Amino acid sequence: MTRTVYVNGQYLPEHEATVSIFDRGFLMADGVYEVTSVLDGKLIDFEGHIKRLHRSLSELDMPRPCSDEDLLAMHRELVRLNSIDQGMIYLQVTRGNPGDRSFVFPAADLAPTIVAFTQDIPNLADAPAAKTGFRVISIPDLRWSRRDIKTVQLLYPSMGKMAAKKAGVDDSWFVEDGTVTEGTSNNAYIVKGNRIITRQLTSDILHGITRAAVLRFAAEAQFEVEERPFTIEEAQNADEAFSTAASIFVMPVVEIDGKPVGSGKPGPVAIRLRELYLDEMRKAAV
Ligand code: PDD
Repeated sequence: MTRTVYVNGQYLPEHEATVSIFDRGFLMADGVYEVTSVLDGKLIDFEGHIKRLHRSLSELDMPRPCSDEDLLAMHRELVRLNSIDQGMIYLQVTRGNPGDRSFVFPAADLAPTIVAFTQDIPNLADAPAAKTGFRVISIPDLRWSRRDIKTVQLLYPSMGKMAAKKAGVDDSWFVEDGTVTEGTSNNAYIVKGNRIITRQLTSDILHGITRAAVLRFAAEAQFEVEERPFTIEEAQNADEAFSTAASIFVMPVVEIDGKPVGSGKPGPVAIRLRELYLDEMRKAAV
């Protein structure tokens, strides 16, 4: 089945969808994005993703491309047209096509470019990796310092993923000034006893939508939540570690820089939080 994608108000077969070579997203990485997961054909935490999209747009002085209702309808239509049961929807909004290249932002009334497409992942909830856990390496965090804005400038995270691949592991955790910021495309956590520790929300990290829900469920389940930076050494000596993102939900991390974390197997807290997250979010899906 040919994938149907969305470009600026049109639903098209993917090979017919085009964006200008002058688009600011293409030339300047001048755009923001969201990834929303789909379970049982429904959107997980759509409201959270749209709220963060608004924040990213406003931090970059970009106008809202359309109403939230239109975005929701478009996401649902893509799910329907592509018969997605489990997977993800990628949404990208760029500052648009000013018709030439310039460092100066175009006029504020330039129409943004809106692109969205589905990724069909039939075993997203039941991912084999969640049963074995991620092995990660640490690398320096060389990204820009506004990581709270979900921009499309993903070259360094992509290089981080390639460094992991080259090392024969699953992901990289970024380290800055001696402490872990986050993973290439996920937030990072450690577990000590009944306490879940993750870096506090500043412009050092993306404010994960999965993070917010997982911490809420953790607190409701009587875990203590401590928001502070931690080192790689502390993580290696923790009882457990895990990462969260819309693409992986709660993913146990079983090895860091070649050292096993805890038992070296997915730990009970990460497994429980994954189950809680999936159960609760499935109920609230739209
Ligand atoms: N990435 N940190 C970074 C750097 C991310 O890129 C992501 C998400 C997260 C987790 O955010 P959320 O829980 O809202 O998905 C944290 C998406 C999934 C991606 O780029 O594919």
